[in-house]
Amino acid sequence: MEHSATPILELHNITKEFSSIRVLNRVSFSINTGEIMGLIGENGAGKSTLIKIISGIYQPTEGTIHFQGQHVVIPDYITAKKLGIAIVPQEFNLINTLSVYENIFLGNEIRLSSGILDKKTMRDLASKQLEELNMSLSVSKLVKDLSVAEKQMVEISKALLLNARFLIMDEPTTTLTGREISTLFRIMRRLKQQGVTIIFVSHKLQEIQEICDRVTVLRDGELISVDDIHNVNEQDMARKMIGRDFQQVFPPKRPVNFIDPVLQVKHISIPGLLHNISFELYRGEILGFAGLVGSGRTETAEAIMGIRKIQSGEIYINGKPIVIRNPKDAVKAGLGYLSEDRQGKGIVMDFSIPQNISLIALQKFIKYALIDKQAERRTAETYIQRFKISSASKTAPLKFLSGGNQQKVYLGRWVETSPSILILDEPTRGIDVNAKREIYEFIHHLAESNISCIVISSEMEELIGLCNRLYVMKEGTISGELSGEHINEEEIMFLATGIKERSA
Ligand SMILES: Nc1ncnc2c1ncn2[C@@H]1O[C@H](COP(=O)(O)OP(=O)(O)OP(=O)(O)O)[C@@H](O)[C@H]1O
Ligand SMILES: [Mg+2]
Repeated sequence: MEHSATPILELHNITKEFSSIRVLNRVSFSINTGEIMGLIGENGAGKSTLIKIISGIYQPTEGTIHFQGQHVVIPDYITAKKLGIAIVPQEFNLINTLSVYENIFLGNEIRLSSGILDKKTMRDLASKQLEELNMSLSVSKLVKDLSVAEKQMVEISKALLLNARFLIMDEPTTTLTGREISTLFRIMRRLKQQGVTIIFVSHKLQEIQEICDRVTVLRDGELISVDDIHNVNEQDMARKMIGRDFQQVFPPKRPVNFIDPVLQVKHISIPGLLHNISFELYRGEILGFAGLVGSGRTETAEAIMGIRKIQSGEIYINGKPIVIRNPKDAVKAGLGYLSEDRQGKGIVMDFSIPQNISLIALQKFIKYALIDKQAERRTAETYIQRFKISSASKTAPLKFLSGGNQQKVYLGRWVETSPSILILDEPTRGIDVNAKREIYEFIHHLAESNISCIVISSEMEELIGLCNRLYVMKEGTISGELSGEHINEEEIMFLATGIKERSA
């Protein structure tokens, strides 16, 4: 199509092995100046590994890179930065104990001529950047107090402030909802106009269709195709990713007996965050929570789990009032919570898959005061098979697993605590289209075995396909309840925003 297009980046036969296991095999393609190139593939296909090679974080085992017509070796991140390459990583790279602006300028501090840090300029620039992203966020806030969406925006700001010519974004939208995604896309389009080249990784094929000029597909470390986006639809992309025909089917919804509430939440309030939250959850029900980022869904889950202190309100389990002062009380009462922030509150990156899965359910694996390693491994094996967790080695620490596979381990870990109520906050974050179905089936399987599930999700399709009932939250309150055929996009958007419109 674009005959005059000049490549800014050319990859020739890039191969990467980790302890002799090949995760990328002779991948060659090029990216044109000023284009947005989508990069897709199943969990573990090699997307992050490839872009880490381009940004100097990993070295290829074999192969060469040309950047702006020159053969380049990118031994580290600093060299990449000098070339004008910046990356928004899949897993956050932020320091919790530093403020937003300190994180944004970490390693790129602005100094006065005297050498002293120019905090004012850094604060102002960081504020301006966040404003441009439509984020009302104080730059002096500590990163540990941010939501995942806010952390994501900090990562994006950090990359944008480098004024890179080549921007790599590894699943930047997994933690964002509609409004923030639109803002991000607006900025990406503007950067493109300014001649910035972008690699965009996402599991949401609709986004790829919307924002990309071309799309590259990886499968099992091999390059499958590079297509002009107008020549492929979502079906085609999914087929290329998994190598066969595919349709996202939700298991049929099971009827629920709305007689027996297992959980009743009555008038819970947290000043400034939640106002008079009341709802109930029934045995074997899959209950959804919809709403925009910041509407209070995660805070509601955290209040129930004893992570946040409630000012007023009561919680009943099986009709009995219970007091939950901390997460330990909650787990004892039969509650489980898969947090949206797997990195911040979830898994331990330096532990292996079995160690992570048994982490909370540890009691189960203790025999004669020793951890029964064999039982631990057997249990892990069942989840590895059930969720098709792929990793080079079962004993490798989790940081060596792909993002989607980390999420699956995290889910296994909570199921292992045998909760009677499981709250799942963005359960399919970063999960590929194919593996999503495994997780949906699994949630159904939990409901079938009388585990009641609450699913918090920003993906409307997921809530619509999965849930028996749905509560919609808006600005810290529950703005409505939907069931049956009322669970549709239009009604959800109306309750979430108060605006009657077709969602974009
Ligand atoms: N440092 C490492 N050591 C060992 N194996 C690794 C390392 N980094 C990645 N791998 C392996 O390489 C393979 C590709 O991983 P990668 O993170 O590139 O996948 P991905 O396509 O980004 O997947 P996802 O969609 O889940 O993020 C996986 O099998 C992963 O376990
Ligand atoms: Mg990845």
